[in-house]
Amino acid sequence: MKAAEIRQTYLKFFESKGHTIVSSSPVVPGDDPTLLFTNAGMNQFKDVFLGFDKRPYSRATTAQKCIRAGGKHNDLDNVGYTARHHTFFEMLGNFSFGDYFKHDAISYAWELLTQHFKLPADKLWVTVYSEDDEAYEIWNKVVGVPAERIVRIGDNKGGRYMSDNFWMMGDTGPCGPCTEIFFDHGPDVAGGPPGSPDEDGDRYIEIWNNVFMQFNRTEDGVMHKLPKPSVDTGMGLERIAAVLQHVHSNYEIDLFVALIAASKAAVESAGGADIDPASPSLKVIADHIRACSFTIVDGVIPGNEGRGYVLRRIARRAIRHGYKLGARTPFFHKIVAELVNQMGEAYPELRQAQARVTEVIQQEEERFFQTIERGMEILEGALAAMEAAGAKQLDGETAFKLHDTYGFPVDLTADVCRERGVTVDQAGFDAAMARQREQARAAGKFKMAAGLEYSGVPTAFHGYEHLVCETSKVVAVYVDGTSVPEAQAGDDAVIVLDHTPFYAESGGQVGDAGELRNGTTRVLVEDTMKIQADVFGHHGRVVEGSVKVGDAFVAKVDAERRAKTVRNHSATHLMHKALREVLGAHVQQKGSLVTPERTRFDFAHTAPMTAEEIRKVEAIVNAEILANAQAKAEVMGIDDAQKSGAMMLFGEKYGDTVRVLSIGSSKELCGGTHVKATGDIGLFKVVVESGVAAGIRRIEAVTGDNALAYLQGLESTVGQVASTLKAAPSELEHRVSAVLEQVRTLEKEVAALKGKLASAQGDELLSQAVDVKGLKVLAATLEGADAKTLRETLDKLKDKLKSAAIVLAAVDGGKVQLAAGVTSDSIGKVKAGELVNFVAQQVGGKGGGKPDLAMAGGSDAAALPAALASVQAWVAERV
Ligand code: ALA
Repeated sequence: MKAAEIRQTYLKFFESKGHTIVSSSPVVPGDDPTLLFTNAGMNQFKDVFLGFDKRPYSRATTAQKCIRAGGKHNDLDNVGYTARHHTFFEMLGNFSFGDYFKHDAISYAWELLTQHFKLPADKLWVTVYSEDDEAYEIWNKVVGVPAERIVRIGDNKGGRYMSDNFWMMGDTGPCGPCTEIFFDHGPDVAGGPPGSPDEDGDRYIEIWNNVFMQFNRTEDGVMHKLPKPSVDTGMGLERIAAVLQHVHSNYEIDLFVALIAASKAAVESAGGADIDPASPSLKVIADHIRACSFTIVDGVIPGNEGRGYVLRRIARRAIRHGYKLGARTPFFHKIVAELVNQMGEAYPELRQAQARVTEVIQQEEERFFQTIERGMEILEGALAAMEAAGAKQLDGETAFKLHDTYGFPVDLTADVCRERGVTVDQAGFDAAMARQREQARAAGKFKMAAGLEYSGVPTAFHGYEHLVCETSKVVAVYVDGTSVPEAQAGDDAVIVLDHTPFYAESGGQVGDAGELRNGTTRVLVEDTMKIQADVFGHHGRVVEGSVKVGDAFVAKVDAERRAKTVRNHSATHLMHKALREVLGAHVQQKGSLVTPERTRFDFAHTAPMTAEEIRKVEAIVNAEILANAQAKAEVMGIDDAQKSGAMMLFGEKYGDTVRVLSIGSSKELCGGTHVKATGDIGLFKVVVESGVAAGIRRIEAVTGDNALAYLQGLESTVGQVASTLKAAPSELEHRVSAVLEQVRTLEKEVAALKGKLASAQGDELLSQAVDVKGLKVLAATLEGADAKTLRETLDKLKDKLKSAAIVLAAVDGGKVQLAAGVTSDSIGKVKAGELVNFVAQQVGGKGGGKPDLAMAGGSDAAALPAALASVQAWVAERV
């Protein structure tokens, strides 16, 4: 059975059991600050498990794109070393939201495996959480798995509930005991059954995990019971495909055979030769092209922090493996085409983004190929020295230097080290890294919102209609990341309210600022961010009094800041629409940031916008503003939204009910806050258009009073220039052209005068020529000459001296310019190129040219007199 058929069989089986087939969410989670990447099928249902969100179905099944290359579930280091690990993989899953539980989950799994996939029952092993007698009994008594093939596994990972059979999505979130099903690949493959000392071998492979979701774990480690026990399962498509295709490694299934062949061809086209088709490096490359491509599809770009850095690490690791096989030029991007062949049908968004994905990867390759060779030399040198000394650990400073100067992520360095049986001094590396606090701080924001433990009521948001809530009750307070009963004056606190008018950062719009006040207390709120999907944290400083859980406040949003922000947000929608009108429907939003100051909008488009295109976009948006149409927000079902033609981001995770924002001629799904009517925007002006990555452009624009301030700024610059030039602004263009024309005329005159001056000097120089065995030798400086004058003077001197070797020099701003000439009768003895280099090397430079004329430059003017003085002796040796 091909991978594609397996995917289909799975989904259809669960559909026949009353499950709704739901499509994969993007690998970049939409609205979950606790997650770097989607790491399991259940992610898109997290809020449903927690009881915060409801769906029209209580049973669902999916094939989910997953990345496990960072965060709690990280398989990056295993790729290439085992038969079954991937950075990107597809997880088949079935889910029950308070519907069926252990009995049905286990029965369905068994039925699918033994009756539809027709796996022999005696090849299947199962594990259960040691305390889960219920699951044990179901396997043993109901299904009939003999006791010797059921393994109980307890807390084997160093803490309560830290177990292979207790599944957690991250440090916080829904979790519960699980039962795992293993397939025995047979005695030809090394490895022992689960729970045995050599369980990590490839013989007994876990193919399916059934999690019984019962708890929500909060930051303090407390397990809170979920509203309803649920089921979450995950089966790696690649693993079950290996079983059903009778191969022992995921890398031998149809999909990977094709990708490995494409990887080999790509490396060979870039200089690799005699590549062993079984090379682990090919597996790494074939695995990594999937993770890289799918993250780029969802808008990630290689960078130095967060998701962008994970992408960079994976891409560079793959490039290094290609380099190891002999590739010396970009090759990795060439594999994208085969990936699209293999997976474009199941994931049309991949096919659609093929050109962009290829370009982004190629750019990253070009960047890394500039430094990889030198970096590898340094690493090889260090490894050789270590080998000679019998050392087993690469020092942290070298690893840091490779990271900092040569762009080697530390896990790439560790990967090379591992091939040589040595490790990296991670602590030493970390210490060196600590010097770079700046970046660490940027990444820290992730944690701040994510790290707070909260299990109370969700926040009711009133900020669409109101900027003030008269009685907002405090339901949680945090200081320094921990929940506290009370925050005092002077504390920086995060405060959760039951009701709030403050908008929390999301969808690109920044969080609100403002004030919380009651009779005794005042808190200045600087920002509002989500702790969970529906829980808003107000970040601010207590300036008077204290804040206790239970206190009531008047919560008041900074109205001016909000007004500026909404103008920019609404303008962004109009601009998005206008861009599609002017540039075409391929314009797709790739990112946006809406602040009180400006809007920054990234979109897919390959060429820079022309000035005319930008003007058209400005004209369309401003026409919409003048029309002063009312904005309208409606909450509706996702299907109705789709029918209404509202713009959606492809592959974005939306609930069943969505908010559709209509403003002017634009209609878009949006949870943000907006103006009442387009006229409120005032004026819209683009200030910058630039490129951020291959195929992605960025526009920055301003509105309202910011637009006015921008134009006034330009006006004042123009005014200053006009007054300097003593012209009216309307005459500026003419006046500047006239001034430039004048400058050009003067430059010509200066050049002519320099020539005259130099030739006059040239005549004086004739007398300085010294006769060396019939050859006139002259080495001198020509004041104020440029390269052209040096050459012309040289020619004249050659004519006059007839038989000569001449060096002329000029000094300008510390830089030395040299010209050497030899008359044609003497080039057999003295070559101008050698002569000029002889002088140049003494003044810190070099040059070259023909035997009769050569030019050079140098940087050490102080050494020039001695260098010129040495010419005579040098020539004398040659005649
Ligand atoms: N969420 C479970 C896992 O990823 C099924 O293994």
